[in-house]
Amino acid sequence: MRHIKLGVNIDHVATLRQARREKNPDTVEAARVVYSSGGDLVVMHLRQDRRHIQDSDIERVRNEVKGLIHLEMAAVPEMEKIALRLRPDSVCLVPEGPKEVTTQGGLKLEGKQTELAKIIKNLSNAGLSVSLFTDPEPGAIRAAHNLGADSIELCTSKYSEAWGKKLQAKELEKLQLAGFLVKELKMELHAGHGLDYYNVAPVARIEGMDCLNIGYSIISRAMFVGLKTAVSEMKRLIQ
Ligand code: PXP
Repeated sequence: MRHIKLGVNIDHVATLRQARREKNPDTVEAARVVYSSGGDLVVMHLRQDRRHIQDSDIERVRNEVKGLIHLEMAAVPEMEKIALRLRPDSVCLVPEGPKEVTTQGGLKLEGKQTELAKIIKNLSNAGLSVSLFTDPEPGAIRAAHNLGADSIELCTSKYSEAWGKKLQAKELEKLQLAGFLVKELKMELHAGHGLDYYNVAPVARIEGMDCLNIGYSIISRAMFVGLKTAVSEMKRLIQ
């Protein structure tokens, strides 16, 4: 059996908590359940507007639970400083807009290469593994490789949103070809965004896939079946 890592994004556990600014549901408790149900990484996106995950969530999960933490963040000096202080195991640099409800596509690298290269170098020198969230486009993947990233997380939102078998197959093929290039460049291959219990299997079967990062569908399902079942069902589907 292939072992594909499952990163479980717990942002929306914090979204529910922030609705009341209460202590529950607690992200530390969520992280414990993720790790004990087959999740390999706990993923948190610390947004600049702090709409869900707070700095203290990362700090508490780091200090109170044993397991790998993957931090998603914008490539800005504030977040770089926080990552260097809180020391997640890995970081994914993502584009971030103030009004978006979720991440909109991969990073646009044009014109930002110098600042990105500097952040990647600083994080790598501190021992953090760095991933770049890119669209499944050869140009973006080669640029990310040249910037010194360890991994590529392919944005699966176009695949996830594709309507009908034909369009979905076309988007899947783009992901497969992009995955092939990532492996040729000897980088780790990750994918995520919009993956759910119905569309995940073909992405998990992409040659060389190392890790899938999934949030919304798992936390939504957890409302009805509990987080333990939601995580373990997803884990089973991706093996
Ligand atoms: N990967 C990245 C880079 C993301 O920004 C997100 C959303 O925070 C995800 C994966 C997870 O997406 P979803 O919540 O749609 O599963």
